[in-house]
Amino acid sequence: MNTNNLLSPFTLPNGVELKNRIIMAPMTNWSSNPDGTVTEDEVKYYARRSSGVSMVITACTNVTANGKGFHGEFAGDRDEMIPSLRKIANAIKEQGAKAVLQIFHGGRLCPPELVPNNEIVSASNIPAEGSSNIPRALTESEVEEIIEAFGETTRRAIEAGYDGVEIHGANGYLVQQFFSPHSNRREDRFGGSLENRMTFPLALVDKVKSVVNQYADSSFIVGYRFSPEEKETPGITMADTLKLVDALADKGLTYLHVSLHHFFSTAKRGINDTSKKRIEYLLETINDRVPLIGVGKIQTAEDAQKALDTGVPLVALGRELIIDPDWVQKVAEGKENEIITKLNKDMQEQLVIPDPFWKVIMNTPGWFPIA
Ligand SMILES: Cc1cc2nc3c(=O)[nH]c(=O)nc-3n(C[C@H](O)[C@H](O)[C@H](O)COP(=O)(O)O)c2cc1C
Repeated sequence: MNTNNLLSPFTLPNGVELKNRIIMAPMTNWSSNPDGTVTEDEVKYYARRSSGVSMVITACTNVTANGKGFHGEFAGDRDEMIPSLRKIANAIKEQGAKAVLQIFHGGRLCPPELVPNNEIVSASNIPAEGSSNIPRALTESEVEEIIEAFGETTRRAIEAGYDGVEIHGANGYLVQQFFSPHSNRREDRFGGSLENRMTFPLALVDKVKSVVNQYADSSFIVGYRFSPEEKETPGITMADTLKLVDALADKGLTYLHVSLHHFFSTAKRGINDTSKKRIEYLLETINDRVPLIGVGKIQTAEDAQKALDTGVPLVALGRELIIDPDWVQKVAEGKENEIITKLNKDMQEQLVIPDPFWKVIMNTPGWFPIA
């Protein structure tokens, strides 16, 4: 099998060269301290996975106190967190990968016990499907404050030495809640029409980019992650997403990153051809204006090569890099057949997985393939 493509360098639109096509997908690890600082175990976990891939996207970090979405999430909402943020940036960069901080607000999906006054917020007061937690709709000025907060966390990322940030616009969290007709029933400039529902995501991009112009140089990476479709009715359709992606592709971002459970999944809603892959629709719409990162159940070198063969220049691996942190090195040495694709229950220590993360993985049957 020809794996040259996997290991060939790729130049991002801002001139930054990635040494190969393999990226570590953002993964929450539940392992930071309750005060939002990172733990040494977490730093070691990142270092263990940063010597092969070209770029590591970190677990999400909250931009405001009311955006904390997970227990053991590291915080990016205060300047006093900069030394903590720096530890992860350094651990990744020392091993030779680019370090990208994923910036995030959990919105209505935040566990109430993690946010001030147990008050969860969103675009509107609509709970997530299956949840009884009713969020409070943000006022217009609070929305502006959250846009500022994404900018502030970007400034902290720059000060902490990151090579870039990724706006987490996927997986049902606040940014997506503004784009979704399920969660956004607003009647001001942030809601209503499809165009209005794009206002918040696009304003975030403008804010982050203006902070980058002010505090960093053009080598600083700004990526945007999105989920293409929602199951809910009303909910985001593929057609909606293609409109958003069309707008994002003209924003001068360094990359777009689609969040998929399965890289080769087909589009479901709002389009004519449901046999066509989401990736194909996205690549067609983007039309080479910005690089797209694909993801989802890529385990073997062959899987990754097939993914690249669709035309995406970059692929992200999530669970597979937990299971086999030496994935890229094995490909580089021609030992693709030695790639491990099932998590070995006796290998927590060798795989450098912090205890809280290990517990979550072990207590969530079916999530990771287990040997
Ligand atoms: C443990 C775990 C934590 C995750 N946390 C995040 C996250 O913080 N931000 C995000 O955008 N996606 C997150 N994801 C989704 C992954 O980035 C990725 O899209 C998904 O796991 C599919 O890729 P995979 O099949 O290679 O694991 C997480 C996935 C896993 C398995």
